[in-house]
Amino acid sequence: MSILRPFKATDMFKFNNVNLDIWTETYSIGFYLHYLSRWPDLCYVQEAPSRRMMGYVIGKAEGQSTEWHGHVTAITVAPEYRRLSLARKMMSLLELVSDESYRGFFVDLYVRCNNAVAIQMYEGMGYDVYRRVREYYGNLGVGKGGRDEEDAFDMRKPLSRDSARRSVRSNGRDIVVSAHEVS
Ligand SMILES: CC(C)(COP(=O)(O)OP(=O)(O)OC[C@H]1O[C@@H](n2cnc3c(N)ncnc32)[C@H](O)[C@@H]1OP(=O)(O)O)[C@@H](O)C(=O)NCCC(=O)NCCS
Repeated sequence: MSILRPFKATDMFKFNNVNLDIWTETYSIGFYLHYLSRWPDLCYVQEAPSRRMMGYVIGKAEGQSTEWHGHVTAITVAPEYRRLSLARKMMSLLELVSDESYRGFFVDLYVRCNNAVAIQMYEGMGYDVYRRVREYYGNLGVGKGGRDEEDAFDMRKPLSRDSARRSVRSNGRDIVVSAHEVS
């Protein structure tokens, strides 16, 4: 049986099979260490019985006042382990901790506008587009579909503290902001 456990610094020695993926960003070592030391309860690994890494999620808590929220910085599952509900379980855990430990108002994330699989997954989990961020990802250039490769959807899901659902809106795809307007 595979296990969902906290992300350890030594996991960086064995995440190549997961990170060698066009949709998955690889950050600097210091970036991961910052997350693991600051938000260890929002960083998890799914590990196979063979100890092979199946996927991971890293997140943080940030914002002021009613913008206080959990944030999914990266979630990824190795191709051979997809469609086993691993991402669903990692997202559920991050949402639970953001809700019950951090008392955030919502969870949010950024996703490339052309990452149809991930967008469909997030919508199925109750996330809505809050706004479109122009050129959030500035490294792919403008593709055939306009700026979908570079633009991000900022997607949000309200938590129990936001029972009035003030953190989401229905027309988010029509709200376009530039990258320097978001933190
Ligand atoms: C997106 C990703 C994390 C999904 O991981 P996963 O473990 O396969 O997802 P799950 O099995 O938990 O799927 C949850 C739901 O998402 C949807 N979904 C996931 N993959 C899908 C696909 N290829 N096609 C259609 N729907 C899909 C389904 O509704 C699924 O529920 P179901 O299996 O009960 O129908 C994985 O495809 C991945 O690592 N992609 C590359 C990295 C990436 O894009 N990360 C997100 C960046 S913001």
